[in-house]
This record gives sequence, structure tokens and C-alpha cells, in this order.
Amino acid sequence: MNCPQDWPEPIVRVQSLSEGGLNTIPDRYIKPPMDRPKPTTSLVETDPCSDANIPIIDMEGLYGDDCELRNSIVHQISEASKEWGFFQVVRHGVPPELLDRAREVWRGFFHAPMEIKQAFANSPKTYEGYGSRLGVDKGAILDWSDYYFLHFLPLCLKDFNKWPNHPQNCREVIDEYGRELVKLCGRLMKVLSINLGLEEDYLQNAFGGENIGACLRVNFYPKCPQPDLTLGLSSHSDPGGMTLLLPDQHVYGLQVRKDNKWITVKPAPHAFIVNIGDQIQVLSNAIYKSVEHRVIVNSDKERLSLAFFYNPKGDIPMEPAKELVTADRPALYQPMTFDEYRLFIRLRGPRGKTQVESLKSPR
Ligand code: OGA
Ligand code: NI
Repeated sequence: MNCPQDWPEPIVRVQSLSEGGLNTIPDRYIKPPMDRPKPTTSLVETDPCSDANIPIIDMEGLYGDDCELRNSIVHQISEASKEWGFFQVVRHGVPPELLDRAREVWRGFFHAPMEIKQAFANSPKTYEGYGSRLGVDKGAILDWSDYYFLHFLPLCLKDFNKWPNHPQNCREVIDEYGRELVKLCGRLMKVLSINLGLEEDYLQNAFGGENIGACLRVNFYPKCPQPDLTLGLSSHSDPGGMTLLLPDQHVYGLQVRKDNKWITVKPAPHAFIVNIGDQIQVLSNAIYKSVEHRVIVNSDKERLSLAFFYNPKGDIPMEPAKELVTADRPALYQPMTFDEYRLFIRLRGPRGKTQVESLKSPR
């Protein structure tokens, strides 16, 4: 099984549709009624959970001398990863100005003339570059977003020529952003390992040590004339290890599934939203949860987010840590390499949690 060389039908940029000034969206973007977001007015006015939010964790102090504070931070990360699969981190060590610069260069890219963006048009073979769909099913219902996908690691996949060249200096900013986020993920991997009662390097080693993968998907959600009929990104769980999302600083859109409700995330200033991906759910034998999430769009503001994915090396079979498999809690998943898993997802597009569920061991 291989990914096809090209898309099954011509690509339409959602940004072009949006800028065309339509009053209604094409049928291809209309979701079945059960998948549509609740109209936003009722979400604000009648939903008692509308001010619920994912936990916010202050990481300053994780490396300080105050042992009690350190333990409390470690504990908060553990609880959030089990309960929610999602949390926000503030004072995480990545300079706030770098977050602002990264958002700025990507805004500059998406607002560049179409010819500049089209020069980086992607294909389903590698997904690198400027794209407007996930999955290759002809006639599939599409999401209301465009994106840009690129690799930082492994170094053999890092190719500046596949990164945008507009605005000026964007490659340096993107590169620096990637380096900082790799470091932050390394720190979080240690905390997650310790919380499982494992050696601090356990998860990193299980991911392939130095040979991990790291990539970025920048999501651009243009304004949408009928936001109640569509989604910016359909419900999915992230296939990789861990995701650090830099959300738009002004516009909400990310929703996380919790007890069968959709909770709209309210980002704290300069926070990253951290979420556990399918591979850490597998390694932790489902102690940590890879939770479904989706993105809603709105009619008066575009939204930009940077999703950084920290992934295992592609060819190592991922399976529950032996230390976490007991007679009472047998291994919940069969081994699969991340390369195989990702191919499976790239062919089918986002589909809730059905993909990680399908790895479950037959009983
Ligand atoms: C993703 C994702 C959320 C967002 O890219 O996997 O879930 O807010 N993005 O854009
Ligand atoms: Ni996601």
C-alpha cells in the first residue's frame, strides 16, 4: 500500500473561496448534521460548561530548587494527561517574542499572493508544502482550512527548499521555533516518563532517542459564511507522540471532547496547548489519553494555529511499555510502527478515534 502521487481531484484553496465573497459554502464542506458544531450563540448562552477550560499549568519552577513546587507541577501534568489528554503550559521556557514572530511570519505567508503559495503546493505522497485537504478519497467532504506542512527532524527530511521563502527571513524564524520546541518536548517527555514510574529517558528512548521525528502543520482557517454547517478540522486524535499547539491569540476555535461534550479551549497568553498523541497512549498502555478534538470556524475572523508534532522514529514497533503490562492490565495494543500507522491515516483523513481503537488487541 502506498500513497498516491497526486490528489484525486483538483485542489481548491479555502482561502480563495472565502475571499470570493460567497454567502453559502459549497456542498463539499457541509458536514452531516451530527458532526456540525452547535450554533455558537447557544454555546455561549445555554451551555453550563461554556466556561470550562482545559487545565493551565505554570512550568516555571520545574527546574528550580523548590521541591514541593516541582512535585506539584509534575503531578498536575500527570493528572491532566490522564484525565484530559490536553493541558496548556505557560512560562514554558520558549521566549514569548519567538511565539509572536512565528505567528507573524506564517500570517505573512498565508497573506502572500497565490502564486507564491502555489509554488509550494503539496501532494499526498509526502504532504510537505501548501495543502488544502487530508486524505485521498475522491468526493470526500472537506474541512474549511488550508495548511502548510514541513519537517524539522530527522535531519534527512529537513529540506529548506520545501519551506516557504516568503516573508523574508521566515526560514530562520521557523528553524529557531523548531529547535526550541524540540527542547520543550524533550522536557515534557521526561515528566511524562517519571509520572508512569519509568526512568526519565524511557519515552524518549522508546521513540528512538536522537532519531525522533518533528514536524509542523500550520493551519489557516479563513472566515466562513456558514460556520454552523462545517468544521475547520474534523474530529481526530493526533497520530504521533505529543503535540504542542500554538493557538491564535485572538480567535477561539479548538474544541476538546470531554465526557461527550465539546469544550472550547480558551488559550492563556503565550501558552502552548499540549496534547497526548496516539503513540503515547499506546506506550503508556492507555494510562495517558489521546483525546479527540476538532476546530470550529466563524464568520468574522480568520484563525491561524501552529501544530508541532513530536513523533517516534518511523520504523520502531510501538507497543505498551513492558513495565505497564500486568496480569490485571494486559497490553491493550498490538505493535505497529509509526510509518505504517501514519500511512493508514494519510489515506483515510481525520476520523475521530477509530484509528487508535483499531490497534486494540483482539480478545
Ligand atoms: C491539528 C489540530 C488544532 C487547531 O493540527 O492536529 O488539532 O486549533 N489543530 O488548529
Ligand atoms: Ni490535532
